[in-house]
Amino acid sequence: MRRKLIVGNWKMHGQRADGVALARDLSARAAGSAMPPCDLLVCPPATLISLVGEAVAGSPVLLGAQDCHQELSGAHTGDISAAMLKDLGCRYVIVGHSERREHHCESDQTVRVKADTALSAGLSPIVCLGETLDERKEGRARDVVAAQLRGSLPPPHDSLEIVIAYEPVWAIGTGHSATPDDAQAMHAWIRGLLAESWGDARARAMRILYGGSVKPDNAASLMAQPEVDGGLVGGASLTAESFWSIVESCS
Ligand code: PGA
Repeated sequence: MRRKLIVGNWKMHGQRADGVALARDLSARAAGSAMPPCDLLVCPPATLISLVGEAVAGSPVLLGAQDCHQELSGAHTGDISAAMLKDLGCRYVIVGHSERREHHCESDQTVRVKADTALSAGLSPIVCLGETLDERKEGRARDVVAAQLRGSLPPPHDSLEIVIAYEPVWAIGTGHSATPDDAQAMHAWIRGLLAESWGDARARAMRILYGGSVKPDNAASLMAQPEVDGGLVGGASLTAESFWSIVESCS
Protein backbone atom coordinates (compact mmCIF):
# COMPACT_ATOMS: atom_id res chain seq x y z
CA MET A 1 0.00 0.00 0.00
CA ARG A 2 1.51 3.31 -1.08
CA ARG A 3 1.17 6.11 1.47
CA LYS A 4 0.07 9.33 -0.15
CA LEU A 5 2.44 12.30 -0.36
CA ILE A 6 1.23 15.90 -0.49
CA VAL A 7 3.86 18.38 -1.64
CA GLY A 8 3.61 22.16 -1.36
CA ASN A 9 5.47 23.90 -4.18
CA TRP A 10 5.68 27.49 -2.96
CA LYS A 11 7.35 28.63 -6.19
CA MET A 12 8.71 32.22 -6.01
CA HIS A 13 6.46 33.30 -3.16
CA GLY A 14 7.10 34.47 0.36
CA GLN A 15 9.48 36.48 2.44
CA ARG A 16 11.01 35.28 5.68
CA ALA A 17 8.13 36.17 7.98
CA ASP A 18 5.49 34.59 5.68
CA GLY A 19 7.49 31.42 5.13
CA VAL A 20 8.20 30.88 8.80
CA ALA A 21 4.59 31.58 9.80
CA LEU A 22 3.26 29.12 7.20
CA ALA A 23 5.79 26.45 8.16
CA ARG A 24 5.01 26.85 11.88
CA ASP A 25 1.29 26.66 11.26
CA LEU A 26 1.67 23.45 9.22
CA SER A 27 4.01 21.89 11.79
CA ALA A 28 1.55 22.66 14.58
CA ARG A 29 -1.34 21.13 12.62
CA ALA A 30 0.72 18.05 11.76
CA ALA A 31 1.98 17.63 15.32
CA GLY A 32 -1.58 18.12 16.64
CA SER A 33 -3.08 15.32 14.55
CA ALA A 34 -2.38 11.87 15.97
CA MET A 35 -0.99 10.68 12.65
CA PRO A 36 -1.26 12.83 9.50
CA PRO A 37 -3.20 10.92 6.81
CA CYS A 38 -0.32 11.26 4.35
CA ASP A 39 3.34 12.26 4.12
CA LEU A 40 3.79 16.02 3.92
CA LEU A 41 6.53 17.94 2.18
CA VAL A 42 7.08 21.65 1.65
CA CYS A 43 9.36 23.05 -1.07
CA PRO A 44 10.00 26.73 -0.29
CA PRO A 45 12.05 29.07 -2.45
CA ALA A 46 15.79 28.63 -1.88
CA THR A 47 16.03 31.76 0.28
CA LEU A 48 13.63 30.25 2.84
CA ILE A 49 14.81 26.64 2.98
CA SER A 50 17.02 27.12 6.00
CA LEU A 51 14.45 29.04 8.05
CA VAL A 52 11.60 26.73 7.07
CA GLY A 53 13.81 23.77 7.98
CA GLU A 54 14.18 25.16 11.49
CA ALA A 55 10.44 25.83 11.73
CA VAL A 56 9.45 22.26 10.76
CA ALA A 57 12.26 20.45 12.63
CA GLY A 58 10.89 17.68 14.82
CA SER A 59 7.46 17.76 13.15
CA PRO A 60 6.15 15.36 10.47
CA VAL A 61 6.57 18.08 7.81
CA LEU A 62 9.46 17.22 5.48
CA LEU A 63 11.67 19.72 3.67
CA GLY A 64 12.39 19.85 -0.05
CA ALA A 65 13.55 22.19 -2.81
CA GLN A 66 12.19 23.25 -6.19
CA ASP A 67 15.23 22.64 -8.38
CA CYS A 68 18.94 21.83 -8.32
CA HIS A 69 21.87 22.10 -10.71
CA GLN A 70 23.11 19.13 -12.78
CA GLU A 71 26.46 19.15 -10.99
CA LEU A 72 27.31 18.84 -7.32
CA SER A 73 29.59 21.91 -7.30
CA GLY A 74 31.49 24.17 -9.65
CA ALA A 75 31.59 27.52 -11.42
CA HIS A 76 27.84 28.03 -11.93
CA THR A 77 26.94 31.55 -10.88
CA GLY A 78 23.51 31.79 -9.32
CA ASP A 79 22.88 28.06 -9.13
CA ILE A 80 22.33 25.76 -6.16
CA SER A 81 23.51 22.17 -5.95
CA ALA A 82 21.80 19.09 -4.61
CA ALA A 83 24.62 18.70 -2.08
CA MET A 84 23.86 22.18 -0.71
CA LEU A 85 20.17 21.31 -0.42
CA LYS A 86 21.01 18.10 1.39
CA ASP A 87 23.22 20.10 3.75
CA LEU A 88 20.18 22.30 4.59
CA GLY A 89 18.14 19.25 5.57
CA CYS A 90 16.21 18.71 2.33
CA ARG A 91 14.99 15.17 1.64
CA TYR A 92 13.42 15.75 -1.80
CA VAL A 93 13.96 18.02 -4.79
CA ILE A 94 11.55 18.76 -7.63
CA VAL A 95 13.18 18.45 -11.06
CA GLY A 96 11.79 19.15 -14.52
CA HIS A 97 8.82 21.26 -13.47
CA SER A 98 7.17 22.56 -16.65
CA GLU A 99 8.02 26.13 -15.62
CA ARG A 100 11.71 25.12 -15.63
CA ARG A 101 11.37 23.13 -18.85
CA GLU A 102 9.66 26.07 -20.58
CA HIS A 103 11.32 29.18 -19.14
CA HIS A 104 14.80 27.71 -18.60
CA CYS A 105 14.82 25.50 -21.70
CA GLU A 106 15.42 22.33 -19.69
CA SER A 107 15.45 19.21 -21.85
CA ASP A 108 14.60 15.67 -20.77
CA GLN A 109 18.33 14.98 -20.71
CA THR A 110 18.95 17.92 -18.33
CA VAL A 111 16.15 16.72 -16.07
CA ARG A 112 17.52 13.19 -16.04
CA VAL A 113 20.99 14.39 -15.08
CA LYS A 114 19.53 16.60 -12.34
CA ALA A 115 17.56 13.66 -10.95
CA ASP A 116 20.62 11.43 -11.05
CA THR A 117 22.75 14.08 -9.35
CA ALA A 118 20.08 14.56 -6.68
CA LEU A 119 20.20 10.82 -5.93
CA SER A 120 23.97 10.90 -5.71
CA ALA A 121 23.67 13.71 -3.12
CA GLY A 122 21.19 11.66 -1.09
CA LEU A 123 18.01 13.44 -2.22
CA SER A 124 14.89 11.87 -3.70
CA PRO A 125 13.95 13.54 -6.98
CA ILE A 126 10.35 14.37 -7.85
CA VAL A 127 10.44 14.14 -11.64
CA CYS A 128 7.72 16.22 -13.33
CA LEU A 129 6.04 15.31 -16.62
CA GLY A 130 3.02 16.63 -18.48
CA GLU A 131 1.60 17.55 -21.85
CA THR A 132 0.54 20.99 -23.11
CA LEU A 133 -3.02 21.80 -24.15
CA ASP A 134 -2.12 21.60 -27.86
CA GLU A 135 -0.51 18.20 -27.38
CA ARG A 136 -3.63 16.97 -25.59
CA LYS A 137 -5.94 18.37 -28.27
CA GLU A 138 -3.86 16.63 -30.93
CA GLY A 139 -4.33 13.33 -29.08
CA ARG A 140 -0.63 13.10 -28.23
CA ALA A 141 -0.78 13.38 -24.42
CA ARG A 142 0.27 9.78 -23.75
CA ASP A 143 3.05 9.81 -26.33
CA VAL A 144 4.45 13.08 -24.95
CA VAL A 145 4.34 11.82 -21.37
CA ALA A 146 5.94 8.52 -22.39
CA ALA A 147 8.78 10.31 -24.20
CA GLN A 148 9.35 12.62 -21.23
CA LEU A 149 9.36 9.68 -18.84
CA ARG A 150 11.87 7.70 -20.92
CA GLY A 151 14.09 10.75 -21.34
CA SER A 152 13.91 12.17 -17.81
CA LEU A 153 13.91 9.15 -15.53
CA PRO A 154 17.25 8.46 -13.79
CA PRO A 155 18.39 4.87 -13.24
CA PRO A 156 16.64 3.23 -10.27
CA HIS A 157 18.18 3.66 -6.86
CA ASP A 158 18.29 0.95 -4.22
CA SER A 159 17.62 3.03 -1.14
CA LEU A 160 16.20 6.38 -2.27
CA GLU A 161 12.71 6.92 -3.56
CA ILE A 162 12.12 8.35 -7.04
CA VAL A 163 8.75 10.12 -7.27
CA ILE A 164 6.91 10.97 -10.50
CA ALA A 165 4.61 14.00 -10.72
CA TYR A 166 2.15 14.08 -13.60
CA GLU A 167 1.32 17.74 -14.12
CA PRO A 168 -0.56 18.58 -17.32
CA VAL A 169 0.72 22.02 -18.29
CA TRP A 170 -2.78 23.27 -19.11
CA ALA A 171 -3.88 22.55 -15.54
CA ILE A 172 -1.09 24.41 -13.73
CA GLY A 173 -2.27 27.66 -12.18
CA THR A 174 -5.39 27.75 -14.36
CA GLY A 175 -8.06 26.50 -11.98
CA HIS A 176 -8.85 23.67 -14.43
CA SER A 177 -7.56 20.41 -13.03
CA ALA A 178 -7.63 17.09 -14.86
CA THR A 179 -10.75 15.10 -14.04
CA PRO A 180 -10.21 12.31 -11.52
CA ASP A 181 -10.83 9.76 -14.33
CA ASP A 182 -8.28 11.39 -16.64
CA ALA A 183 -5.69 11.56 -13.85
CA GLN A 184 -6.34 7.92 -12.94
CA ALA A 185 -5.98 6.83 -16.59
CA MET A 186 -2.74 8.75 -17.16
CA HIS A 187 -1.24 7.51 -13.88
CA ALA A 188 -2.09 3.93 -14.81
CA TRP A 189 -0.42 4.48 -18.19
CA ILE A 190 2.69 5.90 -16.48
CA ARG A 191 2.81 2.98 -14.04
CA GLY A 192 2.61 0.58 -17.00
CA LEU A 193 5.61 2.31 -18.59
CA LEU A 194 7.52 2.12 -15.30
CA ALA A 195 6.75 -1.59 -15.09
CA GLU A 196 8.09 -2.12 -18.62
CA SER A 197 11.37 -0.45 -17.67
CA TRP A 198 11.83 -1.50 -14.07
CA GLY A 199 9.52 -4.44 -13.48
CA ASP A 200 6.17 -4.76 -11.76
CA ALA A 201 7.30 -4.75 -8.15
CA ARG A 202 9.30 -1.54 -8.40
CA ALA A 203 6.59 0.18 -10.47
CA ARG A 204 3.91 -0.77 -7.95
CA ALA A 205 5.97 0.70 -5.09
CA MET A 206 6.52 4.07 -6.77
CA ARG A 207 4.46 7.13 -5.92
CA ILE A 208 2.93 9.02 -8.84
CA LEU A 209 1.60 12.44 -7.80
CA TYR A 210 -0.94 14.52 -9.65
CA GLY A 211 -0.36 18.28 -9.96
CA GLY A 212 -2.26 21.11 -11.62
CA SER A 213 -4.92 23.16 -9.81
CA VAL A 214 -5.31 20.76 -6.88
CA LYS A 215 -7.59 22.66 -4.47
CA PRO A 216 -9.50 21.87 -1.29
CA ASP A 217 -12.69 21.34 -3.31
CA ASN A 218 -11.29 18.82 -5.83
CA ALA A 219 -8.59 17.12 -3.75
CA ALA A 220 -10.75 14.38 -2.24
CA SER A 221 -11.99 13.11 -5.62
CA LEU A 222 -8.47 13.19 -7.11
CA MET A 223 -6.88 11.51 -4.08
CA ALA A 224 -9.58 8.82 -4.06
CA GLN A 225 -8.19 7.44 -7.34
CA PRO A 226 -6.17 4.32 -6.64
CA GLU A 227 -3.36 5.29 -9.03
CA VAL A 228 -3.05 8.84 -7.61
CA ASP A 229 -0.51 8.65 -4.80
CA GLY A 230 -0.65 12.27 -3.73
CA GLY A 231 -0.49 15.81 -5.06
CA LEU A 232 1.97 18.48 -6.07
CA VAL A 233 0.22 21.65 -5.01
CA GLY A 234 1.15 25.19 -6.06
CA GLY A 235 -1.30 28.01 -5.33
CA ALA A 236 -3.28 26.13 -2.68
CA SER A 237 -0.10 25.37 -0.71
CA LEU A 238 0.39 29.04 0.16
CA THR A 239 -2.01 29.12 3.09
CA ALA A 240 -1.98 26.59 5.90
CA GLU A 241 -5.74 26.32 5.81
CA SER A 242 -6.04 25.27 2.16
CA PHE A 243 -2.94 23.05 2.22
CA TRP A 244 -4.14 21.31 5.37
CA SER A 245 -7.56 20.78 3.87
CA ILE A 246 -5.86 18.97 0.94
CA VAL A 247 -3.82 16.92 3.42
CA GLU A 248 -7.04 15.92 5.19
CA SER A 249 -8.62 14.89 1.92
CA CYS A 250 -6.26 11.90 1.96
CA SER A 251 -7.92 10.36 5.00
P1 PGA B 1 -0.97 24.86 -9.09
O1 PGA B 1 0.57 24.51 -9.39
O2 PGA B 1 -1.43 23.97 -7.98
O3 PGA B 1 -0.97 26.32 -8.70
O4 PGA B 1 -1.73 24.61 -10.35
C1 PGA B 1 1.02 23.20 -9.35
C2 PGA B 1 2.48 23.13 -9.72
O5 PGA B 1 2.91 23.90 -10.60
O6 PGA B 1 3.25 22.34 -9.16
